Amino acid sequence: MKYSVRGWSVMLACAAACVDRAPRPAVSVAREPFGTTAKGEAVSVYTLKNAHGMELRAVNYGGIILSLKIPDRNGRFDDVVLGFDSLADYIRSSPYFGAIIGRYGNRIARGRFTLEGRTYTLATNNGPNHLHGGVKGFDKVVWDVAPFERPDSVGLVFRYTSPDGEEGYPGTLRATVTYTLTEGNELIFDYHATTDRATPVNLTQHSYFNLAGDGSGDILRHVVTLNADHFTPVDSTLIPTGEIRSVSGTPFDFRTPTPIGARINQDDEQLRYGRGYDHNFVLNTDGKGGKGGTGGTGGEGAALTLAARVYEPSSGRVMEIYTTEPGLQFYSGNFLDGTLRGKRGVVYGHRYGFAMETQHFPDTPNKPAFPSSTVRPGEEYRSRTIYKFAVQR
Ligand code: GLA
Repeated sequence: MKYSVRGWSVMLACAAACVDRAPRPAVSVAREPFGTTAKGEAVSVYTLKNAHGMELRAVNYGGIILSLKIPDRNGRFDDVVLGFDSLADYIRSSPYFGAIIGRYGNRIARGRFTLEGRTYTLATNNGPNHLHGGVKGFDKVVWDVAPFERPDSVGLVFRYTSPDGEEGYPGTLRATVTYTLTEGNELIFDYHATTDRATPVNLTQHSYFNLAGDGSGDILRHVVTLNADHFTPVDSTLIPTGEIRSVSGTPFDFRTPTPIGARINQDDEQLRYGRGYDHNFVLNTDGKGGKGGTGGTGGEGAALTLAARVYEPSSGRVMEIYTTEPGLQFYSGNFLDGTLRGKRGVVYGHRYGFAMETQHFPDTPNKPAFPSSTVRPGEEYRSRTIYKFAVQR
């Protein structure tokens, strides 16, 4: 079903009256069925297109981005995100491919935290720790969805109300996540939430990228720049120790463009614990990388910072990440080990994708010195992240 169509079909409808107002190719949103969950909930896939041919397909199960087609330096479009062909595959076992993560992205130590004098117990679904919202996090629920079209952008508004106590978290959390595809080849994520009891909130997006094309090999030649002078070292279960450590002189120094593979196999305790990169970077907010007002609907509170730039040399594709969040989890796909078959049956080998998860720091509910992730009644949780795509010649 087409929600609306502009461009050529409109021109046909208005025939001669329109010929000297020849339209540009259209932005559009289309919807098709994408199966049903075990509980019988209908899932739909939405296809968003901009006038430059960039195309995003996403479903209302977990807000999962199924595919993202962007041009290389020769104008060739490839899908640059990992995923599966069917809903059943996502439901069976997905390492969070393309999904919205909540209530709390990343880990909470031992699945416990204390807030306003009460101790809460969460699922320990990652060794001894709680990961990505628990057994049935926001990546596994069916969201209400409303598509929209504006003159220069197209998008989807996902809404989900998480009941008080869901996955052990306090308070009814009303979450809204908006995906906007702009004419500037930006993909904007706006997160909003309110609660009726104090609760930790840390929403993010877990797309895995390979800018050379999904399934085309490992991501080790991607050249990464991170606007971070510090990172949060972890223990062997990937819980931050609390230290804010300088990246200087470590394999975590990405302040100048460096291939992911350049140091990933060095004999370094942190790389051993992460099996590669799986660490939170403390983003510099000194204005160095700040972005003045481009993209989408305008500011959402905290300033947008240029967090990361990723360049893939064979295709020339570039992804820049701007965010209002204080942290970024750079994950180099270390848990991909060749056991998952993705789209078109491609085997996802070791490090076939990377994720850049903008976030508050892991285990913040147990780390009072970290920027707070608590949202209280009457407050609004707001967060914005922009993935901007371009090419370098
Ligand atoms: C995040 C975590 C990783 C891993 C992936 C999913 O990036 O930090 O350790 O759990 O999600 O596999």
